Amino acid sequence: MSQIKDPSLAEKGKMSYEWARDHMKILTNTIERLKKSQPLKGIRLGVCLHITKETSVLIMGAKALGADVSVCGANPLSTQDDIAAFLAENGVHIYAWEGQTPEEYDECIEQMLSHKPQILTDDGSDCHSKIHGKKEFSSWKILGGTEETTTGVIRLKALAKQKKLKYPVIAVNDAYTKHMFDNRYGTGQSTIDGYFRSMNLLFAGKRVVVAGYGWVGRGVASRASGLGAKVYVTEIDPVRALEAHMDGYEVMPIDEAAKIGEIFITATGQTGVIRKEHILKMRDGAILGNVGHFDVEVDAKFLLTESKSVREVRPNLDECLLKNGKRVYLIAKGRIANLVAAEGHPPEVMAQSFSNQLLSMIHIARNHKKIGKRVITVPEEIDKQIAIDALAAMSVKIDKPTPAQIKYAQSWA
Ligand SMILES: NC(=O)c1ccc[n+]([C@@H]2O[C@H](COP(=O)([O-])OP(=O)(O)OC[C@H]3O[C@@H](n4cnc5c(N)ncnc54)[C@H](O)[C@@H]3O)[C@@H](O)[C@H]2O)c1
Repeated sequence: MSQIKDPSLAEKGKMSYEWARDHMKILTNTIERLKKSQPLKGIRLGVCLHITKETSVLIMGAKALGADVSVCGANPLSTQDDIAAFLAENGVHIYAWEGQTPEEYDECIEQMLSHKPQILTDDGSDCHSKIHGKKEFSSWKILGGTEETTTGVIRLKALAKQKKLKYPVIAVNDAYTKHMFDNRYGTGQSTIDGYFRSMNLLFAGKRVVVAGYGWVGRGVASRASGLGAKVYVTEIDPVRALEAHMDGYEVMPIDEAAKIGEIFITATGQTGVIRKEHILKMRDGAILGNVGHFDVEVDAKFLLTESKSVREVRPNLDECLLKNGKRVYLIAKGRIANLVAAEGHPPEVMAQSFSNQLLSMIHIARNHKKIGKRVITVPEEIDKQIAIDALAAMSVKIDKPTPAQIKYAQSWA
C-alpha cells in the first residue's frame, strides 16, 4: 500500500534513481558485497528520511539485502514526487508527497508506523519521538533505530538522559564519515544551490550572514566565501566564534548583523535565531532562509502572517512587505532550504552517509540486545571502513606507516 502524488512519474523517478546510484559507488559496492548473506532478511524496516534520489538508492539497497521497507518523508515539503512514484512501483510502502500540510505529514508518519517496523531509520527524530510519546506504541517490540542528523541526535540523547529511551539507537550523524562530509560539504553545496534556484542573484560582493558555525555553518560560510561573498558569522559558542574569526570571517551578534546582511542563512539547530526585532532592522530587499533541520530558526510566522502583504515572486521565494514599508524575502517558508528549494546533497556525499545508515541498520539487527537502551556512535570499524571505501571510490591512495613510524608513535621516550 502507498499514498503518493502521481504514479505516472515513476519512469522519471527511475532515471533519477539510476543517476544517483551510478554516483554512489561506496554504497552500491557495499550492497553488492552483502547481497549474498541477506543481513536484513525478514526485517521490517521503517524509514523516515527526505525522499530524494539518493534516499531511493538506500531504500532499494535495504530491500536487496532482504528488508521489507515502509517509508515516509522527513519534511512536508522535501519529497521528490518522481522518486516516491518509483519507490511505490518497486514494492516499497510509501506515504509521502511534496506540499503536505502538517496534519498530512503527521498522518503519513503514522501510516508508515502502521507496518510495525522493527528497525526505524529517522532524520530529525519525528518518528522516534512519536513512538516514545504515544501510548499505543508502548507495547511494540522495536529492535532499535538509527538517526541521521544533529537535531535528531540531540532529541534522542535527551530521551536517554531521562532514562526514557525504549531501544538502542545509532547516532549516524556522529560518525566522522557523516558529519565532517555530509553536514559540511553536502550542506555547503546544496544550500548555495537552494539559494541560487530560489533567488538567482549573484553571491559575489554580497554581505552574507551565516548563523551558527558548526559543521553545517562552516560548509556554508566557506562556499559563500568561495563565490566572492563577504561572510559574517553569528555564534553563541566562544570556541566556534573564535574559529570563525580566525578563519577570516567577521563575527558579531545577530542584532548587528541584521542591519548589515543582504542574505541570511541560519544553520544552528536552535529556535528563535532570527526574530521579529532583527527582521524589523533589516535593509529593504534582505533575503532570509534556513538550513537547520526544523523551521524554527527564522520567525517565518511573523513574516508570513504579520506582513502587509505576501506574494510568491519566484518558486520558493515569498516577498513579505513589512508594515515599516521594507520588503524582506523568505526562502521555502523558513524550511530546510537545500532540500525544499533544491534537491538536497549530491549523491557522492550521501553515499558516505547512507553507507553509515545501512551498516548501522545491520549492526542493530545483529547486536541490539548487547547494546541496550542507549544512543551509541557508529562503531569505529564501520566509520573507518567507509573512509577506506570512499578513498577507493575516488581513486585516492594514501601511505602506510613504516615499522619505524609505528614504533615511534608508540614510544613514550
Ligand atoms: N540542511 C541539511 O541538509 C542539513 C544537514 C546536516 C545537518 N542539518 C541540521 O543543521 C543544524 C546544524 O547542524 P550542525 O551539524 O552544524 O550542528 P552543530 O552543533 O555542529 O552546529 C550548530 C552551531 O550553531 C551554534 N548556535 C546555536 N545557537 C545559536 C544561536 N542562537 N546563534 C548563533 N549560533 C548558534 C552552536 O554554538 C553551534 O556551533 C541541525 O539542525 C542539523 O540537524 C541540516
